[in-house]
Amino acid sequence: MNDSSEGKAAISEKRYVLGRREKGSRGILNIGRYYALDGSLGSQVYVDGLKPHVILTCGKRGYGKSYTMGTLVEEMALLEEEAKRHIGVVVIDTLGIFWTLAMPNRKQEEILKRWGLDPTGFDIVVFSSEENCREYERDGIEAHPFLLKTSELDTHHWSQLFNLSPTDYASAAIGRAVNACEEWDDYAIDDLIAHIKNDTHLRDDVKAVAENFLHMAKSWRIFDTEGVPVEEMVKGGRVTVLDISPYPEELKIVIVALLARKIFEGRIRERKRYERAVMEHHPLDDEGIPLTWMAIDEAHVFLPNEPCLSKEPLIKQWMRQGRQPGVSLLLATQRPSSLDPEVLSHSDIIICHRLTAQEDIDALNKVRPTYMAGEIGDSLKKIGTEKGVALIIDDTSEAVHVIKIRPRMSWHGGEEPSALMEQ
Ligand SMILES: Nc1ncnc2c1ncn2[C@@H]1O[C@H](COP(=O)(O)OP(=O)(O)O)[C@@H](O)[C@H]1O
Ligand SMILES: [Mg+2]
Repeated sequence: MNDSSEGKAAISEKRYVLGRREKGSRGILNIGRYYALDGSLGSQVYVDGLKPHVILTCGKRGYGKSYTMGTLVEEMALLEEEAKRHIGVVVIDTLGIFWTLAMPNRKQEEILKRWGLDPTGFDIVVFSSEENCREYERDGIEAHPFLLKTSELDTHHWSQLFNLSPTDYASAAIGRAVNACEEWDDYAIDDLIAHIKNDTHLRDDVKAVAENFLHMAKSWRIFDTEGVPVEEMVKGGRVTVLDISPYPEELKIVIVALLARKIFEGRIRERKRYERAVMEHHPLDDEGIPLTWMAIDEAHVFLPNEPCLSKEPLIKQWMRQGRQPGVSLLLATQRPSSLDPEVLSHSDIIICHRLTAQEDIDALNKVRPTYMAGEIGDSLKKIGTEKGVALIIDDTSEAVHVIKIRPRMSWHGGEEPSALMEQ
């Protein structure tokens, strides 16, 4: 398959919106076009951008998962102003690849032209380590240091951070310090260390281990007495890229767990404010946390099929109760079989690129809806090897589609590097 077929295909004006029952062309995200098995392209396909969803993108490495996420994020940035100002997008960037959303996709200019699109950079705001921020600012991208409020971590967070069991002595030592500092809202890691030093109930070797862990946490330079307020992270009409690539995996998990919980709680407060405004007939200002989309690449890190702290807010709050407060997830993984099975059952739109590992196909087959004729593996074989082509299972319309995802207008930063730069 080459891309020239895209130019020959007739462009139909018929609109198909995934994830939506009612008709209407407002607040829709143009994900791509129908793809026929001979490689020709049909009608435009859209995804509902107004209601909450859980969208899971999966597929083997190099077939378009991160790219597709980027396309959907671009579409959110392109929504009409009226819808867009109520929606905040946060991209959890574990590899430091999404800042390129700010740069036009000159590399695929020809492909874009065939789709009637132009290379375009988008306005984004990045949060990352101080060091990364300096680099981003050099590229002309607005960037702010990301800081966590030390007092927001409870004993479980500290255990996760150092990969300790809650029953380890070092965990207990840190737990005692956290409990002792609880009455202050703005303590620092040094306060925890001081408490451990003075704790007469602890053995010296336990103190040494616990202090060592806390010094390591200090060296990440992310813990602060205040932290960045969640309202600064998520704003209506804005795409925020949270680049957590400099941090170890345990810290990434703690960051996502804390942020997801705060966004969810913020949305619950916002819903109450909204109800009150309607009841009392006064207009609602735009101060609070907007409807939020959180995009998480490498989702198996945060939603594995084993105990993990970030599953608490993501599954129990976002997936089970997210519709009411209006929080949505856009997830991508190359290993659907290693996800918590609840993730698959909560996903109302599954975008599946080429996938060949039998255990991953089996995982999808387990949640295969009854409206799908035949095995997922057979359908996946039919979509072939072209990058960006995907099988989409839409639970709302109870239908399955084969789609070519539209090319990125902004530069895709996730490409595997080649030793020959020009390739
Ligand atoms: N819809 C698409 N249109 C054009 N090229 C695409 C599309 N999807 C993927 N590609 C190409 O495939 C490459 C790999 O995609 P990527 O999203 O990085 O894979 P992964 O699944 O590993 O995240 C991209 O760099 C891009 O060149
Ligand atoms: Mg990727």
